[in-house]
Amino acid sequence: LSHNFSSTTSNNNAVQNIAVFGSGLMGAGIVQVAAQNGFKVTMVDLNQEFIDRGKEIINASLKRVAKKQHKDDAAAQKSLIESTWSNIETNTDSVKGAEKADLIIEAIVENLQTKQNLFQQLDKVAKPDAIFASNTSSLPISDIAKATRRLDKFAGLHFFNPVPQMKLVEIIKTNQTSEETYNSLNDVIMKMKKAPVICKDTPGFIVNRLLVPYLMEAIRLVERGEASIKDVDTAMKLGAGMPMGPFELCDFVGLDTLKSIVDGWRKDGKIDASLVASAKSLDNLVESGHFGKKSGKGFHSYS
Ligand code: CAA
Ligand code: NAD
Repeated sequence: LSHNFSSTTSNNNAVQNIAVFGSGLMGAGIVQVAAQNGFKVTMVDLNQEFIDRGKEIINASLKRVAKKQHKDDAAAQKSLIESTWSNIETNTDSVKGAEKADLIIEAIVENLQTKQNLFQQLDKVAKPDAIFASNTSSLPISDIAKATRRLDKFAGLHFFNPVPQMKLVEIIKTNQTSEETYNSLNDVIMKMKKAPVICKDTPGFIVNRLLVPYLMEAIRLVERGEASIKDVDTAMKLGAGMPMGPFELCDFVGLDTLKSIVDGWRKDGKIDASLVASAKSLDNLVESGHFGKKSGKGFHSYS
């Protein structure tokens, strides 16, 4: 009897309800992928306008995915779209949004204090067993986790843009993340049909640690007058097999995001200063409100 009971318990422990905080570019993508793969998801943001924008992001992306997966089958496309939406709820109240979650994934603005404030509040209202995860690009997971009293149930879960397309998720373990938490997260990522990799809580984890210095050096190369933006993009696509050139990718990630990552790391001092040296053209674009693709202009123009 006790054997049966324990196996039922472990089944019941599997994550079923997920709450995603932030319905922006990343949050909406995470909601979509979770819902598409059978999780019940609550999407939480500060107001209805942001929620509606998140729903639009999901709608556009889901149509693309349905068309790709079921090319000439309109009924199957419709069924995928409907079943995904049937798994999604929304809420503008963070307490209600968190109540039934087994896993909370945070994808709000990249600001340590804001993230800590949110997690401190959620720690009080979420289920005691709920796992907390942050999608931060550049902040130490252990600094965010400090706001809570569930250090063993706190980890990084770093998705990539565009979430429905990019296969990778980095799982970041702090010194305090338990093996049980890691195993649950690994299980969730496999159910989302993504490929997990594991990484320590170091600046940029794996991908951004390598990608961001590369993007910054591309900007400095052009600033030194060694080649044009267009030729650098062409070179890396045709000569190094990159799907996007570095300037296309900077615009795609968001120049404000890129600048905030680099500025933060420079202040932090944990990474060799030459790798995160500032670039005037990046600073100037951000100062003028040109954040890349999302604002219509960055290193390239988008109409
Ligand atoms: N949902 C949302 N957007 C999608 C999508 C989906 N399911 N599928 C494609 N897209 C978007 C692309 O961004 C692009 O937008 P527009 O049509 O509006 O121009 C377009 O759709 C291109 O789609 P295609 O189908 O024509 O192209 P593709 O599928 O062959 O490749 C890509 C698109 C996967 C984005 C590819 O170009 C690529 O891999 N680029 C590199 C992306 C990358 O490196 N991402 C990581 C950034 S770093 C990061 O995310 C971490 C961080 O912390 C900053
Ligand atoms: P975004 O600006 O598109 O979306 C952030 C959303 O969070 C907004 O809708 C905002 O209203 C909402 N928000 C802010 N405070 C909130 C709160 N207290 N409760 C609920 N919602 C709140 O940002 P994004 O590009 O989706 O990035 C989100 C996170 O993901 C950041 O930590 C970022 O570093 C990380 N990230 C970004 C990328 C990228 O390429 N843009 C890739 C990987 C990870």
